[in-house]
Amino acid sequence: MTDHNKEVDSHSGTETTGHEWDGIKELNTPLPRWWLGIFYACIVWSIGYWVVMPAWPMINGYTHGMLNHSQRVNVANDIAALKSARHASESKLASASMDHIQSNPDLLQFALAEGKAAFGDNCAPCHGSGAQGSKGYPNLNDDVWLWGGKLADIQHTITVGVRSTSAETRQSQMPAFGKDGILKPAQIRDLTEYVVALSHRPANAAAVKRARQLFSDNCAACHGEDGKGNREFGAPNLTDADWLYGGSPQEISTQIYLGRGGVMPTWQGRLSPETIKSLAIYVHSLGGGE
Ligand code: HEC
Ligand code: HEC
Repeated sequence: MTDHNKEVDSHSGTETTGHEWDGIKELNTPLPRWWLGIFYACIVWSIGYWVVMPAWPMINGYTHGMLNHSQRVNVANDIAALKSARHASESKLASASMDHIQSNPDLLQFALAEGKAAFGDNCAPCHGSGAQGSKGYPNLNDDVWLWGGKLADIQHTITVGVRSTSAETRQSQMPAFGKDGILKPAQIRDLTEYVVALSHRPANAAAVKRARQLFSDNCAACHGEDGKGNREFGAPNLTDADWLYGGSPQEISTQIYLGRGGVMPTWQGRLSPETIKSLAIYVHSLGGGE
């Protein structure tokens, strides 16, 4: 390698750099003008950018630039704007009657969105994310209601709960006929057959006959003589195919034995009245609202 050995490559007509390895020489090809042009333009652009935009980290903070642009401030402003927009809708929701909300498309849409979000946060753990329910937890999509499916009924259930700690809670208690020794095992077997027959399935005819009086004496007060239930007591209809605790003879007899009563918490004081309204409208809209 020798310095100042400028020579021109005879093949390309380009100067060499003077570097040579095993007879291979390096050509001194200049950068294209367009490339250099963009390169210098970028340098000029970056200096301008540093001046107007936030750019350089400093010991305390950073250079803000002449425009003082900040995405953090923009997001904070957007959130504040959203909050005040929602505040307007929320106070409308608070003062509007249920009928008014339902007949006002904007307010209805707001309530449904709010109700859906609140349902996911508060209700889905028990009722399922699609409100489909599970054993002991009612499905809220269907038109089978323990306590009523009108808007006002649903709103009241959510507000006071069922067998909850609220003083106004919806309340009733099916006796534990087996556990508390009110009925004998044979009577519970007969009643099980009777409930199976009530729901229009084949059952032991002799047992059904024996249980008729037992049902009338022990069950009809809540479930009705015809077994169709009574919403005043949250007593389910026993003649349909919809079961809270399961419809097999085994499951029916377990319920007669234990007399379970589901607990739904009260949401009064935990959720705002507007949120409870939104939830009632959302649940009512799921398909089973009356
Ligand atoms: C801790 C579990 C639990 C949570 C949380 C819960 N529920 Fe319930 N919910 C129940 C149970 C259990 C019942 C059935 C009560 C019964 O047996 O009468 C019920 C019943 C209901 C009913 C009455 C259904 C009918 O057929 O009449 C409605 C409406 C309802 N829940 C809505 C809600 C909403 C809305 C929320 C959220 C704010 C919620 N629930 C949160 C357990 C829960
Ligand atoms: C004091 C009222 C009351 C009386 C009396 C009563 N029940 Fe019930 N029964 C209820 C209630 C309330 C439920 C629902 C419990 C719940 O929501 O968790 C229920 C639930 C049931 C269920 C479960 C239904 C389902 O969908 O899974 C069966 C079966 C049943 N009762 C049968 C009987 C029979 C048989 C008798 C008489 C021996 C009887 N009940 C007496 C109130 C009563």
